[in-house]
Amino acid sequence: MLVSVSLLSVLVTVLTISTYLILDIRTSKQQELTLTAAVAADRNRAAVSFLDKDRARENLNIYQHNDAISSACLYDSSGALFAGYQSPSSVSDKCPSDATGARTVMRNIGSDRMAAVEPLRNGRDVLGSIFLISDTRDIETYINKIIQISATVTALVLAFTLLVSLYIQRRISAPILKLAELSEQIAQTRDFSLDMKSSRNDEIGKLAHGFNAMLKEVRQRDMELRYVNETLEHKVLLRTRELEEAKRLAEKANEAKTEFLRNISHEFRTPLHAMISFSTYGIKESDHVDQQARTRYFQIILKSSERLSRLVDDVLDVARYEECTQQFNLRKSDMNDLISRAADSMRPLMKEKRVNIELALNAKATQLVCDQDRIIQVLTNIIGNAIKFSPNNSRLVLTCDSTHISGEPALHISCRDQGVGIPTYETDAIFEPFRQSSTTNTGAGGTGLGLSICRGIIHAHSGIIKAENNSGAGATVSFTLPTNLEEGARKMTVTSKEVSHEHAA
Ligand SMILES: Nc1ncnc2c1ncn2[C@@H]1O[C@H](COP(=O)(O)OP(=O)(O)OP(=O)(O)O)[C@@H](O)[C@H]1O
Ligand SMILES: [Mg+2]
Repeated sequence: MLVSVSLLSVLVTVLTISTYLILDIRTSKQQELTLTAAVAADRNRAAVSFLDKDRARENLNIYQHNDAISSACLYDSSGALFAGYQSPSSVSDKCPSDATGARTVMRNIGSDRMAAVEPLRNGRDVLGSIFLISDTRDIETYINKIIQISATVTALVLAFTLLVSLYIQRRISAPILKLAELSEQIAQTRDFSLDMKSSRNDEIGKLAHGFNAMLKEVRQRDMELRYVNETLEHKVLLRTRELEEAKRLAEKANEAKTEFLRNISHEFRTPLHAMISFSTYGIKESDHVDQQARTRYFQIILKSSERLSRLVDDVLDVARYEECTQQFNLRKSDMNDLISRAADSMRPLMKEKRVNIELALNAKATQLVCDQDRIIQVLTNIIGNAIKFSPNNSRLVLTCDSTHISGEPALHISCRDQGVGIPTYETDAIFEPFRQSSTTNTGAGGTGLGLSICRGIIHAHSGIIKAENNSGAGATVSFTLPTNLEEGARKMTVTSKEVSHEHAA
């Protein structure tokens, strides 16, 4: 395109200039010939006046030094040829014999000739005329030269334009084409690691740098996207695991609920069955049985009712502690005092089984803030269990020691017995409602609700409770309570239904 435009412009310019020059040279030549004729007329006026032909011929011979004049013809007043000159190189341009002939030649002159006629005047008189014929073939030579120069200039300009075009193509078009190829390749392969190599600082360099910056941005976005995808996969994996764990816990809770319902219905059915049987039997046999038997029936019904009532209370207690928030009355208390009060309430049972209780209250300071009634409830159940699951004539050791829980001062209370013990794999399970250990589920125990209630109370006090099997005989059930809770009546949260041992001091 560049070459075509340049060629066109050069051609138009050269043609215009050449045409102008050609036209101009013809006009100049004509003027020059007319002037030469006028000068010749002036010079030959005297020769014609005095009919001096030699002088006239001499005057005309001067044109032998002028190659352009091929003939010079001098006519007198009658129009007859007075003197003539003919260039030796021109054979055809002879002087016409009279002025009329000269005018005829002038009219019919060809393109390679030029003619001029001038009168010879002396004042108003016309003495004759001069007729000049000029050979204009040198104009053709001149025109040929112009054409040659124009062609050379055009060729040079064309060559220069070609060189410039090649240079521009190499410097501009080639990198742009390469850029286009690269972008096409990237679009097909989606390989954004490719780069446009360029060390230039001009517009092309800027274009390449801009393209590379764009690719860098795409690569960065790609990386971020990949990272988001990976983290998303990781998150999905985590959530799936959490969901699986939640599902496992829900299934476990469901199993526990089923077991709870099975146990509770069994526990309710036993005393109810006794009450229904003995009241039916009492109604039927009231006329026949003696007073002693009737009293026994009522005693059985009463015992069963009491057991049922206890059971209902315990179930309500369990439900309460699983509700998460409970009203607690936190007051300054003395743990030794609470232990003594709980142990005292167990005396009849201890007496019955001839179990000895040993109090080892070693804590330096036994003061704490707690809900006294509920802690006594815990102690009573733990001591009651220990007596219940110990053989006659055995020994219980109750201890109270100072310790720490989560860096805070606390009291550690334990009840060690010499009974049947608890299998290690059941030391957590016995804190679930209605769960009894495999060594005691012979019906010797109670309903299996006591320890789950104890766990609720201890957790509400931010404490921990656990059971262990002794290395010798028996089991140890212990709990740890922080001593510095704030006093007052307030609702407290039962933190977890599970027994957690890892916070033990
Ligand atoms: N000191 C102990 N020695 C052996 N087993 C124990 C001891 N303490 C608790 N257990 C086991 O833990 C189970 C749950 O005790 P928990 O106090 O909750 O119920 P329970 O005593 O059977 O009935 P209750 O609701 O009347 O207290 C017991 O049935 C028993 O199997
Ligand atoms: Mg119990």
